[in-house]
This record gives sequence, C-alpha cells and structure tokens, in this order.
Amino acid sequence: MVDGNEIREQFLRFFEGKAHLRMPSASLVPSGDPTLLLTSAGMVPFKPYFLGEVSPPAPRMASSQKSFRTTDIENVGDHKHLTFFEMLGNFSIGDYFKTEAIDFAWEFVTQWMKLDPERFWVTVYLDDEEAYQMWKQRIGVPEDRIYRYGKSDNWWGPAGIEGPCGPCSELHYDFGESRGCSPTASPSAIMEWELLKLDEDNQKVTTEGTENRNNGDTGEQPGCHPNCDHCERFVELWNLVFIQFQRFPDGHLESLPAKHVDTGMGLERVCRVLQDVDSNYSTDLFTPILGRISEVTGQEDSGDEVSVAFRVIADHLRSLGFAIADGAFPSNEGRGYVLRRMLRRATRYGRILNMHEPFIFKLVPVL
Ligand code: SER
Repeated sequence: MVDGNEIREQFLRFFEGKAHLRMPSASLVPSGDPTLLLTSAGMVPFKPYFLGEVSPPAPRMASSQKSFRTTDIENVGDHKHLTFFEMLGNFSIGDYFKTEAIDFAWEFVTQWMKLDPERFWVTVYLDDEEAYQMWKQRIGVPEDRIYRYGKSDNWWGPAGIEGPCGPCSELHYDFGESRGCSPTASPSAIMEWELLKLDEDNQKVTTEGTENRNNGDTGEQPGCHPNCDHCERFVELWNLVFIQFQRFPDGHLESLPAKHVDTGMGLERVCRVLQDVDSNYSTDLFTPILGRISEVTGQEDSGDEVSVAFRVIADHLRSLGFAIADGAFPSNEGRGYVLRRMLRRATRYGRILNMHEPFIFKLVPVL
C-alpha cells in the first residue's frame, strides 16, 4: 500500500520534474495577511505573487500546504469533509496557464497514480469554453462526463473577502454507480438546473468579469452528478483554478495584469483513492489516531453516532494540534475563538464516548 508520506513526496517530485520549485508548507497562522484568521488553502502564502506585489522565488512552484477550513465543520464525520487537511498544489505565477495545468493534472492521475481515466468526471465553469474544449479535444474526456457548474462550484476564491480568484475546473473521482443515489443527470440537465440556481442567486460572474441579473426557481436536482451532496459516489479530487481577477472588498472584480494557476488536491482524498478505502478516516493518515482514541476511551469504533464521534475528535485533534504547533492558541476572540470552538466540539463529542475528564491531550503523541 502506498502511504501518505510517499504520495506527498511523489507529487512534489512529479512537479519538480516539470521545473517547479518545491516550497515548504507555510504556517497555519498567515503571515502579513489581516484578511485571514488561518491558512485555508495552498495558495494563501502565494497571494502577494498572484497580485504582483512581490516577485516569486520561481515562476513555477509546488507545495503540500497545511490547511485549516471551518466552512464544512458541520459535515465533518462523513466520508470526505475535514477541517484540517494537506493541500497538494502546483502554482504558476504568470507562467503556464490552462493547457499545462490540465495536461499536468491528467498526467499525474493517469500515469503516476495509474487511475482509470474512465473514473474521472470533469467540471468547468459555465462559460469556460476554453477549458471545456481542452478536456474534450486535447485530453479526450467524453462529453457526457464534462459538466458545467456556476459560481458555487466552479469559481474559486478569494480566500477571505478580497484577493485573487477565477474560474476553476475540477477532476472528480467516481467510486461507481452502486454508490450513487440515483441515475446520473446529463451535463445539459445539470447545466439547466445550474442556470436556474444562478438566476436565483441573482448574479452571474462570467470569465469576462461581468454580472447578469435574473429571477428563477431551482427545484430538485435532476439526478446524481459529480457535485451531488446526497450520496458518496463522487469525490472532488483536484481543483485547477485559473486565477485572472482580483476581487475587492465591495465585490467588484478587476482583471489581473497576468494569468496564473493555483491547483489544490487534498492529500487525504488521494490517499483514500489510492489505498482503496471507503473514507478519509480509513487511510494511514487517520487509522493510528482512531486506534489511540479507542485505547484512551476504551470504546470500539462501532458505527453510527460513535463513529462520527471518533472521526470528529480525530479531525479536530489534527486542526488543533497543527494550529497550536504553529503558534495559535485557544482564546475568546478571532483566531483563538476558532480553536476554542474546535476544542469544545471535540470535548462534546468525547461525551458520546463517555469521556468526562480531559483526554484530548493524550492523543497528541500519536498525532
Ligand atoms: N485554491 C483552490 C482550493 O483551495 C485550489 O488550490 O481549492
């Protein structure tokens, strides 16, 4: 079995082979960035390079960045959501753009990871015809596996209220029809549904940076699809962001002088796919922690509510452990409040495992 350390190393080596400079992970406490409490994505340390404020050490870089995000905190405990993860990413600062970003990603997943190309479903931003045609003509992905989505799925950034952003294209891995909630909807049915949602959102950001306004009603999803939230058939594996704009705090976008690439692939999700297990928590990145939770609490990871408690405690232990190691500390405001909330949540889930005394510190050595 290929373990998490090996996957991280191979990813970085692959991109070194494509002339990328290997960068260390930055701290979870963002440096010189008052817009963010915690480093939430691989691109965060590179924001000044994308904005042209500072010259990068190299035009091509790759990293495995410790990332902390609480946007999905209520979903932690399912098969794929985490608050702490490592983001594998390759970055181009005004160097290559869509063609190479797509070629590199496809080469890595099909040639290094040796995954079956038929397992990949691709998404692009609604009007990103260029990315659509690259997947279809250059890579040869069949049209019935290329979906277009709106802003909530295929537009990334900024991290925080301002900064670099742009349309994105994602690779979703298919765990098979038997894991789906219903037959898949066609790309055109999903696009129509997305357009209705977009009307409802009352706004459309296009790759030209303009806005349209309409009204409408979304209704039920017309079938299972790569971004389906009702089942565990698909997992978003890799997000390729084509950074072209700077968003300002009042919401308006301005084109950046150069075009950049920011990609992000969750190490935990890659491990899950390559280790052929049914959730992030069954990978080697988590099993020692879950084993220790069992020892410390005297409980078996026995499904349902108990498994969710094991998973939440393991996830929050990672977030808290790495953030505190990087100099953050639980308190009652700002960044510290985020940590305090995680600690309280982990403790509350400990009650489900019958823990009424402090125990989380006992898990730190295994972490
Ligand atoms: N910034 C994008 C993300 O976090 C790609 O790295 O998904």
